[in-house]
Amino acid sequence: MKLLFLGDVVGRAGRTAVRDRLPAIRAARRLDFVVVNGENATGGAGLSPDHARILLEAGADVVTLGDHAFDQRDMLQFVESEPRVLRPLNYAKAAPGRGARVYDAPGGRKVLVAQALGQVFMKRPFDDPFSALDPVLKQHPRGGLVQASLVDFHCEATSEKNAMGWYCDGRASLVVGTHTHVPTADARVLPGGTAYQTDAGMCGDYASIIGMDREEPLRRFLTGMSKGRFAPAEGAATLCGLLVETDDRTGRATSVEVFRDEPPIADREALPS
Ligand SMILES: [Fe+2]
Ligand SMILES: [Fe+2]
Repeated sequence: MKLLFLGDVVGRAGRTAVRDRLPAIRAARRLDFVVVNGENATGGAGLSPDHARILLEAGADVVTLGDHAFDQRDMLQFVESEPRVLRPLNYAKAAPGRGARVYDAPGGRKVLVAQALGQVFMKRPFDDPFSALDPVLKQHPRGGLVQASLVDFHCEATSEKNAMGWYCDGRASLVVGTHTHVPTADARVLPGGTAYQTDAGMCGDYASIIGMDREEPLRRFLTGMSKGRFAPAEGAATLCGLLVETDDRTGRATSVEVFRDEPPIADREALPS
């Protein structure tokens, strides 16, 4: 199966790039299944139902969230009615929606998608993600009733993401980190057949500080004081993530490739200085 995972979509720049460019990418690469992390697609914090629909209509089979899952309050109801949107497994016991689900892929195949939140350096405490994921992976062994399984591990610390990669090696087809918005250079297939990358990077304007206008974060670093809210950067977006091929019989990843789709040249020239 050919899978594409796209990292955190940030603001209007990110979501219009997904809307405008994902359909052609999906067709040209003959993708079977696409997962997009949408936790920052609305104003940089959360995902509104309208913006979730944009990502789904562009070709996402599943949209994952993150620590910002419910920053847009409408998501509390929407996540219950739209099974293609997943919130983290260990967000909170009473949170609406689900953190893992099995989806249909072309040719009668099935794909498990799960998302968990890390605990290290996160602003709020979340339950142990390892013990949250373990029963999900046991219940849906890859190569059994599901042909492939994808884990979006949303956290701050490289060490925790690394640990999750090894914890799931041999059980998931892909473990990919999200949340830090900058792609890491370690995409590889672990010995047990689990594709892994510490962070997928974001789909947003990289002439920014992790997707946000540079001014306010720089002010806070330089002066220790805030003057306003963070606002998503509005320049043309680069789409970042990874492409994974899996063996339907075993569910093992057979290859992984960093995916990066730069903005069209005309849009790049319009980037703010
Ligand atoms: Fe994010
Ligand atoms: Fe996040």
